[in-house]
Amino acid sequence: MATMGKPLSSLLSIIIFLYSFFLFLTLSSATNVTYDRRSLIIDGQRKLLISASIHYPRSVPGMWPGLVKTAKEGGVDVIESYVFWNGHEPSPDNYYFDGRYDLVKFVKIVKDAGMYMMLRIGPFVAAEWNFGGVPVWLHYVPGTVFRTNNEPFKYHMQRFMTVVVNLMKQEKLFASQGGPIILAQVENEYGFYESGYGEGGKQYALWAAQMALSQNIGIPWIMCQQDDAPDPVINTCNSFYCDTFTPNSPNKPKFWTENWPGWFKTFGSRDPHRPPEDVAFSVARFFQKGGSLQNYYMYHGGTNFGRTSGGPFITTSYDYDAPIDEYGLARLPKWSHLKELHKSIKLCERTLLNAEPTLVSLGPLQEADVYADTLGNCAAFIANMDDKNDKTVEFQNVSYYLPAWSVSILPDCKHVIFNTAKVGSQASVVRMVPESLQPSLVSSSKLHGWEVFVEKSGIWGKSDFTRVGFVDHINTTKDTTDYLWYTSSFYVDESEDILKKGGQPVLKVESKGHALHAFVNGKLEASASGSGSMSAFKLQAPISLKHGKNEIALLSMTVGLQNAGPLYEWVGAGLTSVQISFGNRTKDLSAYNWSYKIGLEGEHLGIYNLDGSNSLKWVSTSDPPKGQPLTWYKAVVDAPPGEDPIGLDMIHMGKGLAWLNGEQIGRYWPIRSSKNEVCVQQCDYRGKFLPDKCMKGCGEPTQRWYHVPRSWFKPSGNILIIFEEKGGDPTMINFSRRKISGACAMVSEDHPSFALDRSHNEIHYNKRGPAVHLTCPTNTKISKVRFASYGNPTGSCGSYTLGDCHDPNSFSTVKKACLNKNECSIELSEDNFNTHLCSGTVKKLAVEAICS
Ligand code: GAL
Repeated sequence: MATMGKPLSSLLSIIIFLYSFFLFLTLSSATNVTYDRRSLIIDGQRKLLISASIHYPRSVPGMWPGLVKTAKEGGVDVIESYVFWNGHEPSPDNYYFDGRYDLVKFVKIVKDAGMYMMLRIGPFVAAEWNFGGVPVWLHYVPGTVFRTNNEPFKYHMQRFMTVVVNLMKQEKLFASQGGPIILAQVENEYGFYESGYGEGGKQYALWAAQMALSQNIGIPWIMCQQDDAPDPVINTCNSFYCDTFTPNSPNKPKFWTENWPGWFKTFGSRDPHRPPEDVAFSVARFFQKGGSLQNYYMYHGGTNFGRTSGGPFITTSYDYDAPIDEYGLARLPKWSHLKELHKSIKLCERTLLNAEPTLVSLGPLQEADVYADTLGNCAAFIANMDDKNDKTVEFQNVSYYLPAWSVSILPDCKHVIFNTAKVGSQASVVRMVPESLQPSLVSSSKLHGWEVFVEKSGIWGKSDFTRVGFVDHINTTKDTTDYLWYTSSFYVDESEDILKKGGQPVLKVESKGHALHAFVNGKLEASASGSGSMSAFKLQAPISLKHGKNEIALLSMTVGLQNAGPLYEWVGAGLTSVQISFGNRTKDLSAYNWSYKIGLEGEHLGIYNLDGSNSLKWVSTSDPPKGQPLTWYKAVVDAPPGEDPIGLDMIHMGKGLAWLNGEQIGRYWPIRSSKNEVCVQQCDYRGKFLPDKCMKGCGEPTQRWYHVPRSWFKPSGNILIIFEEKGGDPTMINFSRRKISGACAMVSEDHPSFALDRSHNEIHYNKRGPAVHLTCPTNTKISKVRFASYGNPTGSCGSYTLGDCHDPNSFSTVKKACLNKNECSIELSEDNFNTHLCSGTVKKLAVEAICS
């Protein structure tokens, strides 16, 4: 028998050793993710998970680590994001995974933070994102109907899904490979529309599930709002409340993929707010009723940069009233109230997941769910679902006071450590502080100088085509631009003299959407737009005509493409009728010859790009035109000082697009909501929430400030470019710094307040007096106490008022504890206040302080 030479055998043993070592490493770093009827099971352990939606392209890579860290500090375990197909595949087979679309980098940041990831690949996502995330080019691939059973759609969907999955596999990002991704989603809320697509809908839903499973990613798949999700795909709930949801099989856990802690905005409408007490109530009820994974959609909404917003009319801001605001700052008290909630729920985790609940009725609208295991652990959630009345209930021989519409959490069935309606954490006062634009000295333009390029109305260069009647706007631009010119001309006969007889002519236009500026003989005569979800609109306005030839140039605009709904990709836009009436006579121009031009001249020249912005079209001036339509403005400016986030203040402008250093800030349009709609001063958190329940901002611009990420700025020489459609005053544009200028809190004597220590896996409850805690941003101090009252003050931050019970020493006590400090705590104790005051009243301490 031949024997191996010594060197060869030792080489082989080294190879075998290395192979087994790597195999060991791979296997040992893999995380096993499965589920049972109760929860996800990670490496053999049931898990109760708090998840947070942060969409990577809605911020910038420079913000990602901070956002993820703030989520982790807020008690979040999982980061969720959709995958944005149209950002990743801008044209067929041409993939982009860089910049704001660097998905791998984002997932690795989540991994490095020690958190899990839920990847909702879709690739249809809705999400108030342009075209629901599906690339516009796919609509023009022959034979394609989105989201139903046809080859071209399924082919492209599967191909993109596979690209994403392979990228994640290659980077070992699935938990089965040791990565952070523990759940993946295919499709999105298809259940709402499935029946509308007939047999094809059913087949498609099944195909989507099977196609996803065939990707072999080693972790569970979910489908949200999909009652017929086939095993083993988990169907999940999306709503403002999901406590009554049950999955479609007793073997699947109860997951909530979208809890909306606020809502999105559309240009021209009011600003929705969801009170933190109600968000907390919904979450507590969900876990009370056996839920085990809850995701905030959105936890950080961010910004629809460029033309990524869906629609029509979704604003550039996607702030969403989320726990982290658009600019990346924790929104207080929402963020901190939910943080307290998460901590309290987590204390119950093991008991909740390993004991069966017993429902105890405590009144007509009051109930407790008690989880008691065989080891003697007990956790209880006590709820008062009455949306008006507070109630005191008896639970296990103890009385508990429950505010209306609230849940108390008792991790040991005895101590209330949290009540969803009692917000003890501070609110912050946030202001946008204007900083006028500072022209850069390095700039070639003179001090305070602007460069200007005014486009002509109508066809610039040559028309793209001429045709009788109207084309569909979206089918023509294919969304390469918002803008499409419809131009025509007509004669007013001198002999007819209709101009005199009929009075002033009136232009009447009908459009399927979304907005329009009407120019007659080079002059902007009128503008109109749809609103809310109604993209169609009519324009009717008096115009001036002349004898002889009159030129009519109608600039039709899209403001974000439809992002959801059955057959949404077929919804059109653009003109359907144009008439001019002179008294009782009407001239119908609809069947005239119309010449078309796609996009603006400045867009074709790319003058917003860094290289294009030097194009020869610019004219320098120290006195830029105001109220001038179709105007491009350029300024070279310094970065605003400091580190605060920046918003571009466009209140003095009309409508258009903005860029900084070639980066797309997005659409601006400070259109106001109607004064006559209903807005609330103070929101009553009690009762079921719907988006129009707690509106603010009646009569104000829906969006005044436009986020410009800090990382887009250089210290000096920043090129700001604005395209203004209808006319504004560019000299009034400023960068505003988002600053936390103060802190408020109102805490009552009966606020749950225990200091919890954990030792040897046991929790000790040490009674501690309730207290107001205030913290100013780093490097600032409490410079003034604006309000302090121990007694029965009312109102909310910024508008606290004294009640008829007030300790006159309140101010001096609070000042003594807080002035010139970065943070302070004031206990509601006898040492600090006259606690004997107005006996019988539950007293509160309200404080408003200024940070500087
Ligand atoms: C859901 C949808 C999300 C988002 C949300 C509203 O129905 O799944 O993508 O559009 O509504 O913000």
